[in-house]
Amino acid sequence: MRFWLGCTARGEMIPAVFVEPPWAEGSCQLYNAICEMQASIEARENRPVLFAEANFCERSSALDFLEFAIDRIEGLLLREGETDALTNLQRYAESVRTGLEAVDEALFRRLRGEVASGVCTGDALRRRIADLAGPATPGGGQPAEGYDALDALVNGILLEESAPENVGQPEPEMIFYQPTPARIVLEMVERMDFRPDDIFYDIGSGLGQVAILVHLLTGVQTRGVEIEPAYADYARRCAEGLNLPAVQFIRGDARTAAYANGSIFFLYTPFTGQMLDQVLERLRQVSTRQQIRLCTFGPCTPQVDGQLWLQPLDQTSLHENRLALWKSTPAPAPWGRTRTIR
Ligand SMILES: C[S@@+](CC[C@H](N)C(=O)[O-])C[C@H]1O[C@@H](n2cnc3c(N)ncnc32)[C@H](O)[C@@H]1O
Repeated sequence: MRFWLGCTARGEMIPAVFVEPPWAEGSCQLYNAICEMQASIEARENRPVLFAEANFCERSSALDFLEFAIDRIEGLLLREGETDALTNLQRYAESVRTGLEAVDEALFRRLRGEVASGVCTGDALRRRIADLAGPATPGGGQPAEGYDALDALVNGILLEESAPENVGQPEPEMIFYQPTPARIVLEMVERMDFRPDDIFYDIGSGLGQVAILVHLLTGVQTRGVEIEPAYADYARRCAEGLNLPAVQFIRGDARTAAYANGSIFFLYTPFTGQMLDQVLERLRQVSTRQQIRLCTFGPCTPQVDGQLWLQPLDQTSLHENRLALWKSTPAPAPWGRTRTIR
């Protein structure tokens, strides 16, 4: 009888043998456990459906499982030493992973080509994403963080090369790089009513996928402002590789960047405290010339809510784990808003 213990982040069931090795050190139960692990990996290798390009979601779950399994096998190698059986199991798991990844790579290459040639943008891209990763589930009830097959797909299409690893230490109040979950970007595009002449800024744009995806889905010009030069350069190369001149990345500090032409701004909590106040003041100045809209996600939302020149577009989403939307008001609201952040 096989026991299942929990599941991976993407819902793949994990046999108990991977979670809590039941054997005493050096006992022959290790052999049985290795056989059971081998069988779980074979079960993935022998599912032709996983190797069909269209079955992205199932493949993504299987890859998630293999990541987990390889990690556990590495742990066992450390504990038990390099036995032939464990080393072979490790190689086997890695080769199954490589086979599945090759299917994804071919899919991403083809989709990138379609994006770069302009045939897979807007609704065509939206449909392609939904067909492959399933419908996004925007709105309340979503965990704050957490990435899924949708993120794997979007990143696979948009981000071509390996991301830079050696980056500088952020200053106090700056938040290190973490991508916005793709479902939040889709929700922003859905709820924000983009107009053709909008100019969208992702403030603290990291590797650039928010600015790239927003442009691809809406057609508007987008900009990313990023203080880490390696991230900004990487994002620029990704946009160039997809042939997207309307997406630009600016290397620089959000406190001093020029926003004059911006009409929609997005903040996935790039900084906090005084730094956030300084950038919000810059945005307020922009809003004295034209109305702007702002989208926030993450712990910056309560601080943004204290800005009287901003009016929430929807009171129910003023929560740091949800996408919050605002528009600028011409003058401080006379009614003295008080809002409660949950
Ligand atoms: C939480 S990440 C968000 C990344 C991106 N918006 C996304 O969702 O994929 C915050 C980013 O803001 C950048 N950042 C922090 N302080 C900044 C500043 N003063 N000016 C510009 N970028 C900054 C960080 O380097 C990091 O890449």
